[in-house]
Amino acid sequence: MAAESSPRSAVDDAFYQAADSFFPAQQGVALTYDDVTLATQYSEILPRDANLETTLADRLHLQIPIISADMDTVTESRMAIAMALNGGLGLIHYNMPERQQLSEVTRVKYHVHGLIQEPIKVSPDQFIGDVLTLIEERHFSFSTFPIVDGKDRLLGLLPGHVVRPRYAARKVSEAMMPRASVHTIPERELQPDPIGRADKFFNEHVGIHKLLVVDDEDRLRGLFTLSDIERITQEKAAPLKPGRDSQFRLVCGAAVSATRNSTGELDQVRILRHVGALVERGVDVVAISTAHGFSKGVGETVRLIRREYPELPIIAGNVTSAAAVEYLAECGANAIKVGQGPGSICTTRMVAGVGIPQLTALYVCGKAAQAAGVRIIADGGIAKSGDIVKALTLSHAVICGGLLAGCPEAPGQLMEINGKIYKQYRGMGSPAAMKAGSAARYGHTKDMTRKVAAEGVEALKEVSASLDSVMTQLVGGLQSGMGYLGAPHLGDLRARARFARITPAGQRESAPHDIVEVKTGASNN
Ligand code: XMP
Repeated sequence: MAAESSPRSAVDDAFYQAADSFFPAQQGVALTYDDVTLATQYSEILPRDANLETTLADRLHLQIPIISADMDTVTESRMAIAMALNGGLGLIHYNMPERQQLSEVTRVKYHVHGLIQEPIKVSPDQFIGDVLTLIEERHFSFSTFPIVDGKDRLLGLLPGHVVRPRYAARKVSEAMMPRASVHTIPERELQPDPIGRADKFFNEHVGIHKLLVVDDEDRLRGLFTLSDIERITQEKAAPLKPGRDSQFRLVCGAAVSATRNSTGELDQVRILRHVGALVERGVDVVAISTAHGFSKGVGETVRLIRREYPELPIIAGNVTSAAAVEYLAECGANAIKVGQGPGSICTTRMVAGVGIPQLTALYVCGKAAQAAGVRIIADGGIAKSGDIVKALTLSHAVICGGLLAGCPEAPGQLMEINGKIYKQYRGMGSPAAMKAGSAARYGHTKDMTRKVAAEGVEALKEVSASLDSVMTQLVGGLQSGMGYLGAPHLGDLRARARFARITPAGQRESAPHDIVEVKTGASNN
């Protein structure tokens, strides 16, 4: 529908060039997102109709081409769940003990959308004042709490209307609704359609807003709220579907490491045991993330995993050259991460003097990937939705760290500075992250008693809106870009992209200028 019928002009073709003419003509100059702009094209599509599906491996299809980074201040189960619900993918980081990572993956795979699996509970001996403090300290937006005994058995429900300062000195047990009056449903009755079951309950029980889930021992197993169920029912009609596996579980990825033993050899037994346990938990893809993916250790790790798990999608990286893509593809990787030093918290280029600005790296790597039949993923340096559009003209997906690190779904403490709320965001090559376990990713041993050169910084991000709102902005921007290029699918975006270089004056023109800005657009960064 798009390309062949487009009205074209030779004048445009001379100035706005396809990637294969544009990048080789730069004569050894490497470019990144802000160095170029994309020419608009004849369009027959509405942005909202642009299809964002992408395939990274035979067994890895995503509804949207956006992945959250395997960083310890970006992706744990909460972020991975939210990413999958938005149609993307979260890569659970590995800066934690293996057992913990496995349970994070399990949480994603067994997440029942709409069921709060670990509701915040209170005990009957607490005072209402304690509950009010809890709400304030943890910024809860709700005030109804299940009450349980020491063995998690349900004793009652503390309704929101009694959680008031005037009752602060009263015990929870005095104010609670007793167990016999609380609406519950046995966990075993939820399947095969937990949302449908909860929806039916709320339809039949006018005015009831909470439904608690219990097991056969009457232990609390979860909580449905009417507002969540209503939101989900509305979402069913939405064009972007959650990313699910063949068993209808949310998709989830996890980082694995090219671990070495005490003699410096690749610890094959440990790597395979780790990957085996992840596969058992239902992981959809593993990612071997290192600063230098064009290395023997990474290649051998990919080979090892590929030999043992012929069907498992493998992401490996990071690289910035065609030879590196060919090498990792030959070792068995399906998708290769491109990006050395573009990240918002990276100092690799300053510390080691290496790395290639992203667009040129994507072009060069993309040529090799096409020939080798693998995909490339643009990793790092994405600061706004327009960068995603540009990245996807040369790749099949993007990985975002900093753009998502301020979301409430990202792990990390909140802190208040001068009335503003911030979250920690740190490079995996920062001293603190390496000490916590990521040193191998930067070619150092985990024993950080020896001084090593850090390649990342520790930073703060202002707390942003929920991941849902951030993704709405990013996806909306991406679809706008596709609309401007007349690209109904991501494949058309790659085929139709025409590039022009911009100067610093052009960059200045591209952002709001010569105004006093009083309100920014709905923020996506
Ligand atoms: P953004 O720009 O999205 O980048 O914040 C996230 C990506 O940056 C990479 N990364 C690092 N690179 N030193 C580096 O040179 C680091 O400490 C570091 N930590 C993360 C990684 O590829 C991530 O996805």
